[in-house]
Amino acid sequence: MKAAVMYQQGEMPQYADVPDPVVKSDDELLISVKAAAIKHFDKSRAKGTHYSAENQPKKATLIGGDGVGLLADGTRVYALGDGMIAEKAIIDKRRMVKLPEGIDDASACALPNAVAGSAMALRFRAKMQAGETVLINGATGFTGKIAVQVAKHYGAKKIIVTGRNEQTLKSLLTLGADETVLTTQNDEDFIAQIRNIHSQTPIDIMIDYLWGHTAELLLASFKGNGSFTHKTRFVSIGSITGDKIQLSAENLRSVDLQLSGSGVGSWTKDEMKLLFSEILPEMFQLTAENKLKVDTIKVNLKDIEQLWEMEVTDGKRLVVVI
Ligand SMILES: NC(=O)c1ccc[n+]([C@@H]2O[C@H](COP(=O)([O-])OP(=O)(O)OC[C@H]3O[C@@H](n4cnc5c(N)ncnc54)[C@H](OP(=O)(O)O)[C@@H]3O)[C@@H](O)[C@H]2O)c1
Repeated sequence: MKAAVMYQQGEMPQYADVPDPVVKSDDELLISVKAAAIKHFDKSRAKGTHYSAENQPKKATLIGGDGVGLLADGTRVYALGDGMIAEKAIIDKRRMVKLPEGIDDASACALPNAVAGSAMALRFRAKMQAGETVLINGATGFTGKIAVQVAKHYGAKKIIVTGRNEQTLKSLLTLGADETVLTTQNDEDFIAQIRNIHSQTPIDIMIDYLWGHTAELLLASFKGNGSFTHKTRFVSIGSITGDKIQLSAENLRSVDLQLSGSGVGSWTKDEMKLLFSEILPEMFQLTAENKLKVDTIKVNLKDIEQLWEMEVTDGKRLVVVI
């Protein structure tokens, strides 16, 4: 079969001929892959830089951690698996969802990582309640765009979005966001705008895709002066602009702030079960009914080497169709 193969960590994957994969346990199934999205998760695992791939042997590997395809009986499913940017792959049948009609393969394979990066954080780490105010930091990316819609679906009273791309940021107002904040303004103005918003509509939850300097500014903008403060739950989901920040202890002591992170390893087994039994089926159905907007760019497997590092803007996701 044809597959995307990473012969050397850190280099470009190659379009290559490899033997068909073989089922090795009762929990596995063979799938004919129809589409697989290229996400930061796949790229950093292929490079060996993702925390979940640190101890992996540095040998040639097939790449892609999830995708959409057909089972032997023709059932169309989304599933987690190994080497899913390939014509065939082995999936884990405990982490598989049957797809409804009305959702295309590209949207169905692109959506789950962003649902994990939004719904799992809002429901399980932030314990979001309907009627709360949510700020999404770095909302112009693919996951941020889905997060706006998921927060709205979960009943957010107000959604504030931040980002550096003014045009994409404004487009989020049509998806459910209420207020935009540019991250490119100077630090003092950024902090002043966040403080102003927080004083008028206290922010209950901040979900963060950027970390780095904007996370420092957001946390600094919450610094209290000894008076009572509103409780805010901050959830780190991504670190596009840096893995480390400086946070003053005084800042932390002066507010009712809860800091947490959402990602593989932070979720319980029960939360993972809910992702596959409840959360993803609901999001697939909303997409099939055109209530959730998913933007993809479709590319071919044979071009994997050229497109692996392709820049994608405006909150779209690159999807390999097979
Ligand atoms: N923990 C989880 O479960 C989980 C799940 C999904 C994603 N994630 C993580 O979340 C992060 C975002 O993912 P994504 O799918 O939204 O990625 P994406 O579609 O590639 O979007 C990247 C975002 O980062 C912004 N950005 C990039 N460089 C920036 C800079 N120098 N200053 C300000 N903003 C910058 C982009 O802004 P522009 O729009 O202006 O380019 C865009 O909003 C990644 O780190 C990803 O690994 C985590």
